[in-house]
Amino acid sequence: MTNVAVIGAQWGDEGKGKVVDWLAERADVVVRFQGGHNAGHTLQVANETYKLSLLPSGVVRGTLSIIGNGVVVDPWALMEEIERLRGQGVPVSPEMLRLAENAILILPFYGRVDQLREQRRGKGAIGTTGRGIGVAYEDKAGRRAIRVADLYDDATLREKVGHLLEHHNALLRGWGAEEIAPEELIAGLEQVRGPLAPYVDCVWERLDALRRSGSRILFEGAQGILLDVDHGTYPFVTSSNTVAAAAAVGSGMGPGAVGYVLGIAKAYTTRVGGGPFPTELHDEVGARLAERGREFGTVTGRPRRCGWFDAAAVRQAVSLSGMAGIALTKLDVLDGIESLEVCTGYRIGDRMLTRLPASQADQAAVEPVYERLEGWSESTAGATGWAQLPATAVKYVRRVEELIGCPVALLSTGPDREATIAMYDPFAD
Ligand code: IMP
Repeated sequence: MTNVAVIGAQWGDEGKGKVVDWLAERADVVVRFQGGHNAGHTLQVANETYKLSLLPSGVVRGTLSIIGNGVVVDPWALMEEIERLRGQGVPVSPEMLRLAENAILILPFYGRVDQLREQRRGKGAIGTTGRGIGVAYEDKAGRRAIRVADLYDDATLREKVGHLLEHHNALLRGWGAEEIAPEELIAGLEQVRGPLAPYVDCVWERLDALRRSGSRILFEGAQGILLDVDHGTYPFVTSSNTVAAAAAVGSGMGPGAVGYVLGIAKAYTTRVGGGPFPTELHDEVGARLAERGREFGTVTGRPRRCGWFDAAAVRQAVSLSGMAGIALTKLDVLDGIESLEVCTGYRIGDRMLTRLPASQADQAAVEPVYERLEGWSESTAGATGWAQLPATAVKYVRRVEELIGCPVALLSTGPDREATIAMYDPFAD
């Protein structure tokens, strides 16, 4: 039985929510394995719009949903999201939602530390979501983080809070910021442990049993490969590994369990926050993409930067995650643009590059090398078959496939589920 991992092939916001929802219907279990409530997945089901941050997209359709150990969990945000979904008529229950006991907690003051760090970076700010994601992953690597299981062991919790605050209060003192009182932090954690308890589970064991019984597992990635802490545009990245390999580590499974890797890429490019973006457009085409594509962040509401499709960057993402297919989304946003550019590589002065360089200075200096493609004036919005697409749109997709070295397995032509041309169903194998 094939499992499937859905991975963003750009800087996030590629439209993973819709694709995951489509696949979740065919899966027996959906697993989140990295990131936290910095993610924003929008699902459109019938006439209802669901905005998810921390919950795996399977919850909306009642598919067993798992938050793996690789996710950093703000328990208050999680409970709020559960309540919000219940308010929309989605019965989120402990039977259908499981939370890894070894997941790291995002503590209430992490957001403040995240924002203070950003302020101190000044012009070099990363443009984080301000949710304390990076602080949680730092504490994890620093071996001082509080894990879900610690909530249920009073002595350990007190000891760990003391150790953790020794570190953070020294920093806050140095910055002249207000320190954290241990008792207040512990009291908050004691309040949340009750409501969280029914969801807590040994997730790796459950997933192993599911895999052995032939269940189809869908791994739901958050953010995108260019935001990966190792392989992205460092330091303008998130603090987790967003590549497909993280699906195994972040859920407690072997690498062979990950299965088919489906990359998601927009037919153009967007980015939220700071950092290099070689194909960014500051002209009316960029403004048009932003407007037609409704490019505002799901989590922070920030306007997204927009630009041409960067085939060189997506080709890199395909390699870094072993993508077997790409879901190309928002093709309809390109409707009516007479002439389209696709980035095939970069140049720094006379130096030609086929990939994004690793050095920060070089990443900032690269200029895109473009190939011009003919656009189309017809509407592709809502198309459900190749025959409904203008010839130049088909050509665009075919050329993208050639340049990225990966077949397009699914084409999305609008926010509705039906607005999809599916060439390949990875779960059908
Ligand atoms: P952090 O993950 O909040 O630390 O933010 C680090 C970088 O990742 C910033 O540039 C954010 O805008 C970006 N980022 C984090 N989550 C998402 C997402 O879900 N979509 C797009 N960008 C994201």
